[in-house]
Parts: sequence; C-alpha cells; structure tokens
Amino acid sequence: MDTAKDHVVPASAATPAGAPARGTTPAETNALAAAGDFAALSLPHMSPILGRYYERSWSHGEGHTLYDSAGRGFLDFACGIATTSLGHHHPAVTAAIKDQADKLLHICNALGYLEPVAQLATMLADVCPDPLDTVFFANSGAEAVEAALKLARRVTGRPGIIAFRGAFHGRTFGAASITSSSINYRLGYEPLLPSVYLTPFPNTYRYFGDDEEAATAGAMAALRTTLNNEIPPSAVGAIIIEPIQGEGGFNPAPASFLRQLRALCDEHGIVLIFDEVQTGVARTGRMWAFEHAGVVPDVLCVAKALANGMPISAIVSRRELQEKWGIGAHGTTFGGNPVSCAAGIAVLRTIEEQGLIANAAARGTELITGLEKVMAGDTRIGDVRGLGLMVGVEFVRDRATRDPDGDTCEALIQACADQGLLVLNCGTHHNVVRFLPPIDVTSEEISTALSLFSAALRTMPRTRS
Ligand SMILES: Cc1ncc(COP(=O)(O)O)c(C=O)c1O
Repeated sequence: MDTAKDHVVPASAATPAGAPARGTTPAETNALAAAGDFAALSLPHMSPILGRYYERSWSHGEGHTLYDSAGRGFLDFACGIATTSLGHHHPAVTAAIKDQADKLLHICNALGYLEPVAQLATMLADVCPDPLDTVFFANSGAEAVEAALKLARRVTGRPGIIAFRGAFHGRTFGAASITSSSINYRLGYEPLLPSVYLTPFPNTYRYFGDDEEAATAGAMAALRTTLNNEIPPSAVGAIIIEPIQGEGGFNPAPASFLRQLRALCDEHGIVLIFDEVQTGVARTGRMWAFEHAGVVPDVLCVAKALANGMPISAIVSRRELQEKWGIGAHGTTFGGNPVSCAAGIAVLRTIEEQGLIANAAARGTELITGLEKVMAGDTRIGDVRGLGLMVGVEFVRDRATRDPDGDTCEALIQACADQGLLVLNCGTHHNVVRFLPPIDVTSEEISTALSLFSAALRTMPRTRS
C-alpha cells in the first residue's frame, strides 16, 4: 500500500495507548466487533507496520458512499487510493465476481487457459494503442513494476535502470529501489537493487517556477549528465517514469519531457516503462495518461482500478519484447486470477458503455475550476493541478517561497472526513490533498465535495493571512 503516513516512527511508539492487551478473550473480541470498534479489534494481533490515513472503522460501501461502522456515510473521493473507480458495490462488477466465483476461483494460469483471463487480455490490448498488444498479468502494482524491470534487463542484456526522484513504484525490493517519494520506503533496506540511477523529475511547480519548458530542459540536462558521467546509454536497460507522479505529490511530467524521453530511448535502444498504476484506466480523462503527451511506452504497468478493487495488475508491451523475454523467465501463482479478470472485464465494459473517459475529463474540469476558486480566496493553497479526476491541491506556508505545509494538509484531510468527505494527502512533505473521485462521479457530487472541502478549510486555524 502507498500511504502518506510514512513518517519514521520508532516501533515502541507505534501502538496507541489504550490498545487491548494480547490474549483478548473471545467474549471481549465479540464485544468489540459488535460495537463496531474494528480499530481496537485489530490492535492486538495486526502488525503495527501499516500507516493509516484514518483511525476509523469501516463497514460497507454503496455507490460513491463509504459507511463507517456506526452507519455514517462519507462521500468517497479516495476510492481506495485510486482503485474503486466505479464506486462500491457496482452492480456489473459485483455480478461478474459472483458469477465467476460460482464457476471457478483459481487454477493458476501456468496450468492452461481460461476464458475470463484471455478475454481481459484481449480487452486490455484493445484499449492500448499500437504496438502494445501483449499482456502479462500479476497481482499488484509493485509486481507489475518488478515484471517490467525484469523484462527490460533480460531483453536488453543491460543492467542499468534509471528512475526519477520523488517517484513511488511500490514496496518490493526492485520497486523500492526505484522509489524515493519518502525516505521511509528505503531506510534500513540498503543495499537495494544495484545499477539504479535516480535523476530529477521535471517538477514544474516546486523547482521550475511553473515553467514547463524550463522543467523539461532542466530534467533532460540532468538525465544527460547521468548518461555522460555515471552510466552510458549502452548500459541502460530501462527508464521508468510515472507520467504523473502520484504518491510523490500529483506532479504531472510535461508532455515535452515525455516526448524527449521517448526520443532518447529510441536513439539508444532503452526500454521506456510508464508506470500507470495510479494514472491508468480512465483516471486522467484518457484511458492512459501518456495519451495526453502523444507518446507510447515500450512497457505499460497497470493495476489499481483495473478490477475496481479486486487484486490484479498487468504489464502490456509489444509481442516481440515478451517473446524475447522467454518462456519461464517470469511467472506467478495468483496473477491473472479468473475472479479478478471477470471484474476487470466488467470494469472495461462499463467504462466503454457509459462513456466514462469523457465523464472523467468533464468532471475533472469542473473539479479543478472549483478548486481554483477556493484557492483564489485562500493563500494557504499554492497550487491546484491535475488531469481529469487526478487532482492535487498543494498547501504552502508562503506562496512566494512555496515552503510546503504538511501540517495544515494532514489536519485538513481529517477535517474533511469530519465534514463527510474522504480525500487523502500525498507528496514528500505530505502537503498535497489528492482528489481521486470515482470516474462515474456526477456534477452534483463534485459540487458537494467542493462545499465540504471549503467547509473543512474554514475550520482550520489560520496562522497566516
Ligand atoms: C504509481 C504506482 N506504482 C506502483 C504502486 C504499487 O502498487 P501496489 O501497492 O499495488 O503494489 C503504486 C501504489 O500506490 C503506485 O501509485
């Protein structure tokens, strides 16, 4: 899981006071469950390793509303961190899951062929531009990233991997080696994967005074320095980038930068990997965020929203790359599970039938326009940015210095929940509120969310004008 709750906390401080002791009796356990206190129920035996955005207990979801264990509904603009993009208990997705569960839960794709798996691969290839036509399924975003890195190394025979500062690609060792959105994802895990080189991301707002061309030029210059001084292009197998950094703060890479990366990879035979785990599947008002830039990667990583909450991920590339990768070079027990694939088919069908790409684009414009109005009246907001329904609001202590204000932002997401709106924060400094509404959100729900957000903001103490 990615989470902005990634501060380095000593183990002794991780268990809140008042947690029930180990060895809770069955009667006590039942009482906690009956009271809906799933936090207390979790504490004795669940690992304290997970950071949590909320200390709330959740019960069920219906449409765009998530209910807590006391029965209060919350407008869910967090969507399980960009995963339940069609909302909760979606009729088509639920029916597909039930139907497949009645037929077959699992065989492992190494044992043969299954209809839902083949169908989802076909549909996924169909919603990718040429030449992306071949799909390998896994279970999680990090697993898709691992697969992409392994493919690139094996196919090119080159060790080097270049990634961008502030990126989040997952928690497994390979993915953590190219992740730097927080020190806590790396601390204590060295030595990480060798031959990984991190270079600056073209973060237009934070480092380049809103000038996209300057950001592109600056980040390309830094990348060329890496290729000149640290590792030659002939030893680089892969360059991996999120077209919009998610966990790192909702930072879009300028289209010109993605185009120049594409040209550089073509020139040197480097595999260009786009990690669209968070940005993909209609989130940004296009099926894939890279479509905004008019470039196509060699390998696309997909996960999160693909099956609306059922675990699945995939890489998609041209066939020749996966043929060169070689039979048995990679594999998985659960990857491409038929129940998850059935859910994925329902998701892609619903997006197509209900025109949800266009909806994400239109509702995203409404959301950004509304948030820009809020920003006009509140100097604590330094920037509103995003594409489609992936929208970030960056909080700063001072608009001139852009000094990040994580404290306001962290308190604000709790205040939003108090008002009945679920949003999350992100960014290395935790100072960006991220809006990830369902892609079938309505204009009315966007207006409601804007009102709730404004109301929450009004409750926040203002230490500055
Ligand atoms: C861009 C990106 N890549 C990879 C991952 C890792 O996905 P998972 O948590 O499913 O392993 C995430 C998760 O947030 C992500 O946002």
